[in-house]
Amino acid sequence: MHDSLQVLLSQEQIAKKVEQLGRELSHEYQGKEPLMVCILKGAVVFFADLIRCITIPVKIDFMAVSSYGKATKTSGVVQILKDLDSSIEGRHLVIVEDIIDTGLTLNYLLENLKSRRPASLKICVLLDKIECRQVEVIPDYQGFVIPDEFVVGYGLDCADKYRNLRDVCILSRP
Ligand code: PRP
Repeated sequence: MHDSLQVLLSQEQIAKKVEQLGRELSHEYQGKEPLMVCILKGAVVFFADLIRCITIPVKIDFMAVSSYGKATKTSGVVQILKDLDSSIEGRHLVIVEDIIDTGLTLNYLLENLKSRRPASLKICVLLDKIECRQVEVIPDYQGFVIPDEFVVGYGLDCADKYRNLRDVCILSRP
C-alpha cells in the first residue's frame, strides 16, 4: 500500500501568503537590516522563498536543532546541532520556522536567543497547529493556522521524505 497525499495548501496559496509576509517584513524592518534565521531543516524551502519576497537589505543565518525524537520532545529539551555563525547582540532577529506544533522547540530557542541580547526577536512561521500547543508561543508573523493533521511537503518531512513537494499535503498511511 502507498502513502496517500491530499493537498492542504497549494503552491499558489503558499506563494501568495509568502509574498504577503515578505511585504509586511519589508515594511516593518525598513532601515533595520534584520538577521533572518532559518531553523533547519524544515524551514529551508519557506525561508528561501520568503527572503526573496523581502525588498529591504537582510542578512541570513542558520541554526539546526534536534528535539531527541517525539517521545522526549515533551520534555522541551532541545539540542543545538548547528549554532549561529556570529554574535546577535544588538541585532534585529527574525526566526523563520516551517511549523509550530507543541511550541516546545520555539520556546527553548526564544529563551536561548534572548539571553544573547538581540535588539529585538520575532517569530515568522508558515504553519501553526494552534490546538496542539503545550507552552504558549505566539508567532509575530503567521502564514496559516492548520488542523492537527500530519503534514508534509514544502520543506516538511516524514522520515526525511516529501520535503521537496511543492504543496503542503496531509499524509495518511495505510
Ligand atoms: C519541526 C519544526 C519545528 C518543530 C515544531 O522540526 O521545524 O522545529 O518541529 O514542533 P514543536 O512546536 O512541537 O516543537 P522537526 O523536529 O520535524 O525537524 P526538521 O525541521 O529538521 O524536520
